[in-house]
Amino acid sequence: MIDLFPVVGPLLRRLDPESAHAVTLGLLRTGLTPSMAGADDPMLRMRLWGLDFPNPVGMAAGFDKNAEVIAPLFRLGFGAVEVGTVTPQPQPGNPRPRCFRLPEQQAMINRYGFNSHGHQAMAARLAAYHYRYRRFRRPGVLGVNLGRNKDSADSVADSVADYVAGVYQLAALADYLVINVSSPNTPGLRTLQDRGPLTELLVRVLAARDDLCLKRPPPLLLKIAPDLADEDLAAVAEVGLAVGIDGMIVTNTTVSRSGVDHLPLAVEAGGLSGRPLFERSTRVLGSLYRLTAGKLPLVGVGGIASPADAYAKIRAGASLIQLYTALVYQGPQLVREIKRQLPEFLKRDGFTSLAESVGAESVGAGHFQAPG
Ligand SMILES: Cc1cc2nc3c(=O)[nH]c(=O)nc-3n(C[C@H](O)[C@H](O)[C@H](O)COP(=O)(O)O)c2cc1C
Repeated sequence: MIDLFPVVGPLLRRLDPESAHAVTLGLLRTGLTPSMAGADDPMLRMRLWGLDFPNPVGMAAGFDKNAEVIAPLFRLGFGAVEVGTVTPQPQPGNPRPRCFRLPEQQAMINRYGFNSHGHQAMAARLAAYHYRYRRFRRPGVLGVNLGRNKDSADSVADSVADYVAGVYQLAALADYLVINVSSPNTPGLRTLQDRGPLTELLVRVLAARDDLCLKRPPPLLLKIAPDLADEDLAAVAEVGLAVGIDGMIVTNTTVSRSGVDHLPLAVEAGGLSGRPLFERSTRVLGSLYRLTAGKLPLVGVGGIASPADAYAKIRAGASLIQLYTALVYQGPQLVREIKRQLPEFLKRDGFTSLAESVGAESVGAGHFQAPG
């Protein structure tokens, strides 16, 4: 396998981030990128919601918003790929420029605002993907991240209708679904994390999923922000457990500028991702693991830039992890490196599988057992 990133990466970073992203998608679409998906160490296997993840490293939402490069991403070695966020109707998102690199901190700020080709285009691409690649073997787990249109948001009911439409349109084509209420770039979206609206939203999307009577109904995960106050996080955990969602993705980007406030680009509006997000999002992850007593599988995302970061997320309570921003700076080699070093960390600490180490930091060792 030849790693082209040392040559291609610096060239890409001479372009503005959105153009670099478009070129990267174009390169991946050619299918000529080398395969980096060797057999994964059996220690890294994860079985969750009846799905088999060959390894815990996932591509986070926002990279392949329109499901254009699923197979090439699996070839880079990801155990899961999450496409989206997809909105019901196509929409352009915010005006450019809307994405900024902060290389000093291996960070980014984006305010894309859900630029999306819409449900119909996504459904067609997912159907084509399943037809071409999945009839024979399953390279990994495919998630679909759902959002809502910018201008269908006058009431909670309108927002809920957008997510319900996503479930009806795309549930049969996804291994798991994500309800994304945590992007800072769609006005009002994050208020759907409040107890009342959140309960209504989750009850309705779960009912829609069950209404479809699919042979394999996809688990429903909630993706949350890293900026929730302690009491709001407790409410989210309580609602999630009460209504019976299947897991949470922790976290989206932050509106905080802590760690980058000295940099000129910190004034740009949008969500901050990458290294400066790591501590905040890992703290939220650990809190949520404790609040849910380890009963709800969690996906840890936010600022992972090394194998040690990935392991720290798992020990804080993540059963799976995802990355985005660090790939911009380090390339896909990071996926391989995480998969190479994780088994070494696990053996060093006396674990025989990844599953055993989940939440070790939050509760001492192994899975948290609720008292009684
Ligand atoms: C350019 C960019 C676009 C993103 N778009 C989405 C999106 O459409 N939906 C979503 O749920 N998260 C989106 N995210 C958030 C990521 O999925 C992830 O939660 C966040 O960036 C933290 O991970 P990281 O520090 O590894 O990048 C986006 C992130 C970036 C950098």
